Amino acid sequence: MSNAKLTLDGTDHEFPLVEGSEGEVGIDIAKLRGTTGAVALDPGYGNTGSCQSAITFIDGENGVLRYRGYPIEQLAEQVTFEEVINLLVWGELPDEARLKELRATLAEYAVLDEGIKKVLEGFPKTAHPMAMLSSLMTALGTFYPDGDTEEEILRVIAGTSTLAAYIYRYKQGLDYVEPSKDLDFASNFLHMMYGTPGEEPDVDETIAKAIDKLLILHADHEQNCSASTTRMVGSAMASLYASISAGVGALSGPLHGGANQKVLEMLQAIQDDGGDLEKYVGLAKDKSSDFRLMGFGHRVYKNFDPRAKILGASADDVLTALGKDDPLLDIARKLEKVALEDEFFVKRRLYPNVDFYSGIIYRALEIPTEMFTVMFALGRASGWIAQWQEMRNDPAFRIHRPRQIYIGENERDVPPISER
Ligand code: ACO
Repeated sequence: MSNAKLTLDGTDHEFPLVEGSEGEVGIDIAKLRGTTGAVALDPGYGNTGSCQSAITFIDGENGVLRYRGYPIEQLAEQVTFEEVINLLVWGELPDEARLKELRATLAEYAVLDEGIKKVLEGFPKTAHPMAMLSSLMTALGTFYPDGDTEEEILRVIAGTSTLAAYIYRYKQGLDYVEPSKDLDFASNFLHMMYGTPGEEPDVDETIAKAIDKLLILHADHEQNCSASTTRMVGSAMASLYASISAGVGALSGPLHGGANQKVLEMLQAIQDDGGDLEKYVGLAKDKSSDFRLMGFGHRVYKNFDPRAKILGASADDVLTALGKDDPLLDIARKLEKVALEDEFFVKRRLYPNVDFYSGIIYRALEIPTEMFTVMFALGRASGWIAQWQEMRNDPAFRIHRPRQIYIGENERDVPPISER
């Protein structure tokens, strides 16, 4: 491959090209400012590769998603969430001995300092679980100031599930259920959510499997808003806890992970309003309204979101296995059909994303709507950690510090207050 040429004010400059293992091409502009004095302007970063990464590959045109080379479809069907954690964070799928060890270690690290409950109980019960989770993640670090990175990683992954369950039980006014040493990740989480304090775990296998699959599908998604946030904060050499807490904050937004809660609220609103789909599709198309079809569209996927495809299919299976019938699933299916046939959505290549069907499944599993984005964070913590580690170990590591093009006032003198 030859270099990229840029002509600026009549002068030619050359920049090297970088090719990824899947043929993606990048123009390496690391020396752009030094050699030309100009910076690249890319609001929203839609054209900017912020790093070279070996974790997750997405081909948005063809609906491809792979973790370290393995297709998401195979991972969702053939392995467990702990295997995916090992793949993302430690680089490979584990063998049986490593899997056993990881399961036991995660169960051990799920036991948290008692003091964290006092921090939790300082929050009003009405607070949003994501706000609680973000704060508790930073607080968690204060109880373990001396851990090495490996311990911190294990505590963040395992601790997220304990924190999520504690938050749920606190909000519901229920006594906490402590983690079991004998359960896999998904079952342990369900035990802490719905078990009876002091009693042996009794977890429904169908529900545990459905949760496990959801965790796998949400585990990583390359340089999305929350992963980039986690990297950004970590690049200042902030702690893992502080970096993950920031990632949780980014994920909570309705344009990102918070969309799963909004999807369900939207489907409910459509049902309560008599199920008039055309009206809501019309609103989404109306530029004078700020209504968007939540769960539709994606910055990268312009064909389909493979996670939505898997979840759309498994929504039926889960509902059937649990003997449930959800009218909101019917509304979701009809809405998908109406939108996919509408020129506005076709032209803009807007398809259902991962959040469109996940809410229906969480609802069938009796996870409260407010907890949906916490479920997303539970899966995504392992991806954030993998991204954070890769950033810290990158030989090109520098603090993340973008530039800007200043468009404000030129220099002026401060007037006396009587003249302002
Ligand atoms: N409903 C209606 N119109 C939409 C939608 C939607 N859900 N999404 C995009 N559009 C329209 C925009 O109005 C815009 O139209 P225009 O070209 O006529 O101005 C066009 O499609 C492009 O949209 P952008 O906002 O520029 O796309 P961007 O890549 O910036 O945003 C995003 C992607 C944030 C996901 C957007 O599609 C959206 O808001 N979707 C709804 C929220 C959602 O589901 N978020 C979850 C994303 S997945 C995840 O984070 C896990």
